[in-house]
Amino acid sequence: MRLARSGSQSRLDDQTMQKAEPKLSLIARAIRLAANPDLRKRAMLKRSTSASFIERLEYDALSRPHYAYGVYNAALQARSLGIDRISVIEFGVAGAAGLVQLEIISELVKAETGVSVTTFGFDTAGGMPAPVDHRDMPYVWTTGLFSPHRDIVKAAHRSTVIVGDVRDTVPRFCAEHNPPPIGFVAHDLDYYSSTAAALKIFSEDHRFLLPRVFCYLDDCIGDDHELHSEFTGELLALGEFNTAHSSRKVAPIFGLRHKRKIPAPWNDVMFVLHCFDHPHYSTYTNPRWPKPAPLTRPA
Ligand SMILES: C[S@@+](CC[C@H](N)C(=O)[O-])C[C@H]1O[C@@H](n2cnc3c(N)ncnc32)[C@H](O)[C@@H]1O
Repeated sequence: MRLARSGSQSRLDDQTMQKAEPKLSLIARAIRLAANPDLRKRAMLKRSTSASFIERLEYDALSRPHYAYGVYNAALQARSLGIDRISVIEFGVAGAAGLVQLEIISELVKAETGVSVTTFGFDTAGGMPAPVDHRDMPYVWTTGLFSPHRDIVKAAHRSTVIVGDVRDTVPRFCAEHNPPPIGFVAHDLDYYSSTAAALKIFSEDHRFLLPRVFCYLDDCIGDDHELHSEFTGELLALGEFNTAHSSRKVAPIFGLRHKRKIPAPWNDVMFVLHCFDHPHYSTYTNPRWPKPAPLTRPA
């Protein structure tokens, strides 16, 4: 089902993870910018109309750099395995602000890598359902939050939006939509119970998944009211998934912030689903060193 969606009611904006950064005064910001050549370059790239996708990706000069990082790296992995089309998913669409960015990024990634990217979104289309219990952190989120605003009609028209509760829609998704292998998933359903239901997609047959699926978890870092932990919310759902599966594990990308030109909070909430039981999990694809010729023994 294709659905034109309304604009975001989300408290999140394009600078999603910046909510976790301290607010800086204008003067402090100017001093920070002047002192750091990478920040100056990012500011320049954001204004540029000719900068390449790769340069903008490297310097976090794209809207939702976490989506761009995940989709691009998933496409590279697919290409190295000879796969020419992947799926990417946003769980929790609200007003489609994120899904529209995912569509734009997917086009840029296709132009860069040659890998086609199909975008899917999942939402009730009616806002947050009722929380199940304390594990959904009802002190942060409540029934009806992020319900679509009828005045802001923006279309995520290049995506397929699956409308309904993910408890019902996720189990049917692969059979009904036969998606290309999933390479990136943005988890933004907020609740433990919803995320646990969405994670069932990672139990699907390996043909619906890349061997390593990039994931962004939106609700592991929040403001000083949210107080995330592994005992509630998205992190609890992730922990339970890992306990329940021996050959599939979701793990953080250790050290990601040390590889980034401009370290940012999103670096700490990027994960990868490792499908050890995928027939291509152990296929050698390291772009750093070409595969050596087979060893030959002297006669
Ligand atoms: C924070 S909003 C998503 C914001 C969006 N990702 C963005 O960045 O613009 C969370 C969304 O998750 C949806 N949601 C939560 N639990 C759900 C469930 N069980 N099934 C489907 N959608 C759900 C809500 O309707 C809400 O729109």
